Amino acid sequence: MKLIIINGPNLNLLGSREPGIYGTSSFEEYFAGLKAKYPQIELSYYQSNVEGELITKIQEVGFDHDGIILNAAAYTHTSVGIGDAVKAVETPVVEVHISNTFAREEFRHQSHISAGAKGVILGFGLQSYDLAIQSFLDS
Ligand code: DQA
Repeated sequence: MKLIIINGPNLNLLGSREPGIYGTSSFEEYFAGLKAKYPQIELSYYQSNVEGELITKIQEVGFDHDGIILNAAAYTHTSVGIGDAVKAVETPVVEVHISNTFAREEFRHQSHISAGAKGVILGFGLQSYDLAIQSFLDS
């Protein structure tokens, strides 16, 4: 099984960015743990702060991977282009968020990703990514 985690803007700063909301672990540290936990999965990771680069990556992997785990971060709430890319590809996309976006500011309640996603997992901290992986293993 081939899965990719795609992270959007500012998620490269996990560990130091607003630790009260996003925790103290860097994504690289957490990702190493996921790789060790799921040796049977071909699991890769991509992060970009640039909207177009995220769209290009979704298109690139969206016809040969078994799943995309996408945290589009702030672009979740603004990007029609990323939402369209999610709908355009064949690979199922699970939308994830570290925080419970519904318990935060109102502008975070809207997602351009959800309508095209297979499902949404949010609010479980970094464990949201692990739960998304499990959703692909169980389906
Ligand atoms: C986030 C939630 C977004 O609202 C925010 O802009 C992020 C991270 C999350 O994982 O909780 O950058 O997607």
